[in-house]
Amino acid sequence: MSALSVSMHDGVAVVTFDLPGEPVNKFSKAVIADFVAVFDQLERDTSVVGAVLISGKPDTFIAGADIDGFLEFTSAADATRESAEGHKLMDRLEHGRVPWVAAINGACLGGGLETSLACAYRIVADSPRTVLALPEVQLGLIPGAGGTQRLPRTVGLQAALDMILTGKNVRAKKALQSGLADEMVHPNILRETAIRRARELGTGKLPRVRPRKSSLLDGNPLGRAVVFRQARAMTLKKSRGHYPALLAALEAVAAGYHGSVADGFATEARLFGEMAFTPVSRQLVFLFYATTSLKKDTGVSGDAPPPKKVEKIGVLGTGFMGAGIAAVSAMQGVAVRFKDTQHAAVAKGLAAVRDVLNERLKKKQVTRQQFADQLSLVSGTVDYTGFSNVPLLIEAVFEDLAVKHAVLKEAEAVLPPGAIFATNTSTIPIHKIAAASRDASRVVGMHFFSPVHKMPLLEVIVTPQTAPDVVATTVAFGRKLGKTVIVVNDAPGFYVNRILAPYINEAGKLLDEGARIEVIDTAMLDYGFPVGPVTLLDEVGLDVAGKSGAIMAAAFGGRLQPSATLGKVLAAGRLGRKGKKGFYLYDETGKKGGVDASVYDVTPAGSSRIDVSAADIQERLSLAMVNEAVRCVEDGILRAPRDGDIGAVFGIGFPPFRGGPLRVVDTIGAAELVKRLEALNARFPGRFEPARLLRDMAARGTTFYPTKGKPV
Ligand code: COA
Repeated sequence: MSALSVSMHDGVAVVTFDLPGEPVNKFSKAVIADFVAVFDQLERDTSVVGAVLISGKPDTFIAGADIDGFLEFTSAADATRESAEGHKLMDRLEHGRVPWVAAINGACLGGGLETSLACAYRIVADSPRTVLALPEVQLGLIPGAGGTQRLPRTVGLQAALDMILTGKNVRAKKALQSGLADEMVHPNILRETAIRRARELGTGKLPRVRPRKSSLLDGNPLGRAVVFRQARAMTLKKSRGHYPALLAALEAVAAGYHGSVADGFATEARLFGEMAFTPVSRQLVFLFYATTSLKKDTGVSGDAPPPKKVEKIGVLGTGFMGAGIAAVSAMQGVAVRFKDTQHAAVAKGLAAVRDVLNERLKKKQVTRQQFADQLSLVSGTVDYTGFSNVPLLIEAVFEDLAVKHAVLKEAEAVLPPGAIFATNTSTIPIHKIAAASRDASRVVGMHFFSPVHKMPLLEVIVTPQTAPDVVATTVAFGRKLGKTVIVVNDAPGFYVNRILAPYINEAGKLLDEGARIEVIDTAMLDYGFPVGPVTLLDEVGLDVAGKSGAIMAAAFGGRLQPSATLGKVLAAGRLGRKGKKGFYLYDETGKKGGVDASVYDVTPAGSSRIDVSAADIQERLSLAMVNEAVRCVEDGILRAPRDGDIGAVFGIGFPPFRGGPLRVVDTIGAAELVKRLEALNARFPGRFEPARLLRDMAARGTTFYPTKGKPV
């Protein structure tokens, strides 16, 4: 069955792309053959003056190349050949007898956008679903069907680099402004307008080649050289050289300016091939599959009851976390009853909600009316009025078991039967909170990360008592808030904080030994983390870290004993950023400066510093985390290795190009990892004892993920 169907409209061929049996349109070898057949047909049929490409799917125009196909490449040369095939196809689209109009409704990504760029005219439907992007770099690749050549010619060099180097989505209106689209219309008249334009193009009323946008800098070689130099410097600074596709994309774009048109395309094909075979791309493609598979995971193994609809929630505690949760819920049209004990606290919380929502208004992501509507969904209270019809309550009160028990009991007295009590605790085991409940099956953990509106992860924590419908509803609600949701079993630290603990502790132990703060942070930035561990301590707050460290040490013993430095620095009254005093200096406004050298005086090593190599720091910190992640699989905290990797990347910022801590196990190999951990354990007895599962894997020669085909 062909993916393309053709219908004639008075000299205009409307070609509808609707890949049978698939939720999205994507390019595969078979689809390319379908396009070739249609091109042949239209070339022959001289009654056709123009053609329209439109999607038969409701939400996507074209989602790009079939990523499954990337897994089948056998060599870089193979991938380069595939790219060259794509070039041929696009060339026919651009230069064939018949002019094409792309009628874009929904996601127009990667090869989808490249196809549109080869069309003579692009119309976007004015709908929030219409997004255009070249997301290849997010997969460790570069555009391979002419994107690095046609996009700069269409929107100018700077705008093109901005899209190609970030992979970011461009909405319909912005596409029109930048020249990426020629016209924007209401979705209802997309098809008719496209047919009209195709006819105008075919009859010469509308010129097939029109002047393109270019900025002053683009227009001359010197200006372009400046743009390339700046882009390269910025890319290297941001990526620390870990993402080769970024530099490859720059090289491909530059080739299109420096040599002939053919040189540009040839460079793109060659580099696409090379990038398809980088370990970085393998890991990023894994993350794509892992997040996609999580979108469908109900959180319940086996048959899951349907999730309940949640249109109103209660939030207890109007602090920073509570306000974040209330704000992201309101953004999704969910009504929020927002409660604290004092009017002043409620007012402060509502102001914080307003600030979060206002950020989106300022960025023009919502209209004034939408902003007002969202804000009006959140109502404050100091009692439990308005809670009797709330199916889900999220508590974000003070981290103290007695306080949690008190609010749980109060809430249960007013909530409707069957309501879910979700706790946003980050440290207290859920079963301990549930112990005070009259129905522990309705209690679940919802561990949001701070700031809630920015952090993509939600960790849902279930106890053996939590009912399957509670899990399914909580997971579905988290996803509705736009979060990537992992479900983990209940234990101290859950998953994310548990693997963070030995990592942070190890940074502290290095400080105990006399290592320099900036050397530790820089080493881990170079490893690929977004912030260094000592900076992270300052950000989280030393009091919070100290409390959580004590809980982890009590639960897991010496292995997770916090450093002496943490205790001493905290005892000296340094709380980190919030107290404007920590390991780093902060000015009046809270802006971070350099290392606060006076902090060394309160550390066990005093004023004497030692030199530790970056490699040693990276080995100690990263393997402490990796080993703990393996223990979380071993202890059944994780339902799948996939969740461990997604949790680390999305919750902590574990370097995406490494795939996650469990992917690191597969990359290094269990046997080699055991050796390296044993070597560390000999130096630091007890801290690096390899996880039992790791030894088993080493003995059996197994991996967490399949070594061939789809990783998840
Ligand atoms: N190649 C292969 N499969 C793809 C795909 C692609 N380019 N784009 C989407 N899919 C698949 C997903 O894997 C998923 O498959 P499944 O149902 O077997 O799990 C299905 O299409 C639906 O995708 P999903 O992400 O669940 O739907 P969504 O509506 O939330 O998002 C997209 C749709 C297109 C926005 C999103 O899938 C996406 O961003 N895709 C990747 C686009 C991309 O990177 N293209 C460039 C390739 S070089």
